[in-house]
Amino acid sequence: MRTRRRPSRNRARNGMKVLKSAGIQLAVLLALQALWIGSSDAQNSPRPALREEVSKQEGIYRSTGENKPGGYTVDRGLTDYASALPGEFARSLAALGPKDRWLDIGAGEAQAILDYYTPEYDLKHQEGRELRGRKARAVALSIEDRRTPLWWKKAESRNANQIQYLFNKPLREYSREDLGTFQVITDVIGGFSYTTNLSLFMEKVLGFLDVNGSFYTLLQDVHSEDGKNRPHYEGAPYLTELTNPDGSELKVCTWLKNISCVQVTCELRTGWKPPIEVFHVKKICDATAVPALAPVHYQAGTPPERGFQLKAVARQEAASK
Ligand SMILES: C[S@@+](CC[C@H](N)C(=O)[O-])C[C@H]1O[C@@H](n2cnc3c(N)ncnc32)[C@H](O)[C@@H]1O
Repeated sequence: MRTRRRPSRNRARNGMKVLKSAGIQLAVLLALQALWIGSSDAQNSPRPALREEVSKQEGIYRSTGENKPGGYTVDRGLTDYASALPGEFARSLAALGPKDRWLDIGAGEAQAILDYYTPEYDLKHQEGRELRGRKARAVALSIEDRRTPLWWKKAESRNANQIQYLFNKPLREYSREDLGTFQVITDVIGGFSYTTNLSLFMEKVLGFLDVNGSFYTLLQDVHSEDGKNRPHYEGAPYLTELTNPDGSELKVCTWLKNISCVQVTCELRTGWKPPIEVFHVKKICDATAVPALAPVHYQAGTPPERGFQLKAVARQEAASK
């Protein structure tokens, strides 16, 4: 995981203070909801500053060559995925057979998927090798097209249904009819770290997951379940912050555990700089319901700095279940 630079963290901190005025907070909340629940099109932003951040973020997605920020890593391989994600990920992937499907959200160059189809992968994962003979099918999803010559070569030598690379839009713009369902979904500093609408993102992920399927993901620099870590950059907020409707802190892990029909484990890894919290979300029944969050802060970056507030109505509904 590369170190992200946070040169404007004081500005961000000041921005959060300004939002403490309830009236302003509500106005910003409504404006952000209007912008982010729909399209990612920067033109829709009602506030120039926010429009600028969304536009900057789109610039990062589209950047190539020397213009691509150093912190925007798009080529992590399967070994990187296995060492960053929860330990069960490697076992879940190795257990997939030819009828199964793996979705990698925010795949970048899709190097992890390419690695999965190599003989080296089979050599390292003897267990279940016979079952995997023809391997599971895999779908890579990215906003921008980062396919490499290696991807084209692999894709040509395989059945078109076996590996697919989808791009040009964020996860939220796909339906179940478009993508189908999956037994394993991964996200390594992809949409889960970058989305402007975290609860809609999770709803979509769970909609694409089969019952008993698993979503493996992580966040950098987030207040962990055990609460032992502090923000990595002094004076800056955590990279992703959630609050309850009354403004008190809501941990990402707690929010995930409040989703119905899932089992969630969260694990802080302090050996990473910044530290990461890794999440395993297993879908255990179909009636998933994600407590809704409203976006309240967004600052473009690799990944962006984000704040979300739990919507009061969603909380009441969750409590009555
Ligand atoms: C930093 S790259 C990570 C690439 C890859 N996972 C890796 O580790 O090398 C971020 C990726 O997430 C994608 N992304 C960001 N937001 C997304 C969203 N809402 N839906 C789908 N992909 C998204 C970007 O287009 C890009 O492919």
